[in-house]
Amino acid sequence: ESRSAERVITAEVLAPLRGWRDPHSDKRAQGHVFVLAGSREYPGAALMCVLAALRSGAGLVTAFVPEAFVSSFAASVPEAIWVGWPETPNGGLALEGEYLLRERLARAGEKRALVIGPGIGRERETQVLVGEVLKTYSGELPVLLDADALQPEFLEKTRGPLVLTPHAGEFRRLSAAEPSDASLRDFAQRVGAVVVLKGPVTRVCDGSPRRDSCLNRGVSGEGSGEREGASALPVYHSLLGGPVLARGGTGDLLAGMIGAQLAREPSAILEASCRAVAWHGLAAEALERAQGAETVRTTELLNYLSLALRS
Ligand code: APR
Ligand code: MG
Repeated sequence: ESRSAERVITAEVLAPLRGWRDPHSDKRAQGHVFVLAGSREYPGAALMCVLAALRSGAGLVTAFVPEAFVSSFAASVPEAIWVGWPETPNGGLALEGEYLLRERLARAGEKRALVIGPGIGRERETQVLVGEVLKTYSGELPVLLDADALQPEFLEKTRGPLVLTPHAGEFRRLSAAEPSDASLRDFAQRVGAVVVLKGPVTRVCDGSPRRDSCLNRGVSGEGSGEREGASALPVYHSLLGGPVLARGGTGDLLAGMIGAQLAREPSAILEASCRAVAWHGLAAEALERAQGAETVRTTELLNYLSLALRS
């Protein structure tokens, strides 16, 4: 592996967040995040993803969840626009709901992103739905695939800006390779996506055809470097965060946080992804300093986003 292509993600990537809400700003300028998530088996994953998007700067969040959960979710998180999705007999997202996405996306502005996956489960009908949604909407707006939306069969169905957020096991399933910088580069290049390979060290690589180079300058002070071949792609390492993150739902929070950054900056998906990874990690460090790593709840991380931004 070429060591020159390794970069480190630092707190500096948070800088754009501090000046984002200018005095004349309106909610549409802050980005509209669409979330397709949840099932009877994993309702909480959807809620955590939505909460994270709301708490990390999104101007609007529209959440499509199995209709059984809409009233309770709206009562606990009234800030999101909750849309009930038709359910399969098992309580998953049914194919027939696709028109809802069309309706809502048609009314949204330019700054938007679609997050698919937290808690959707592996039911066949829901998986078919994800494939259909990708066929129809990828290319129109940045799409993030997480958790059970990370299936090899979907990778050919995407055209536009794409972010994938696998943990090690999901990365193996997608790429049929062991996680490493080299396999991450190859995979990111092959699928043409920003891939966020999560773990105690999170690695980010942009294999999309039109890579943005701002982050290269921001992180390392260098230019964007070589463009030919996967071996030249930089891999950004984040060592931020800690074992406080080793609990259920922290990945769902990250998906929502990346979604918010993507919606704000749909043309810079690498920057948006790295910014959210850093913010998530720094908030985890602040949480661990304040409360330790053992007795916290996952969603308490959101109470430290503000501190992380100021540090
Ligand atoms: N140090 C630093 N960061 C860590 C550590 C650690 N020791 N352990 C975990 N993390 C971070 C990861 O980098 C990632 O950002 O916590 C997050 C964990 O994300 P996931 O692995 O996706 O975990 P989770 O949110 O529980 O996923 C929920 O979706 O992906 C599926 O199989 C997963 O069913 C599970 C569900
Ligand atoms: Mg996960």
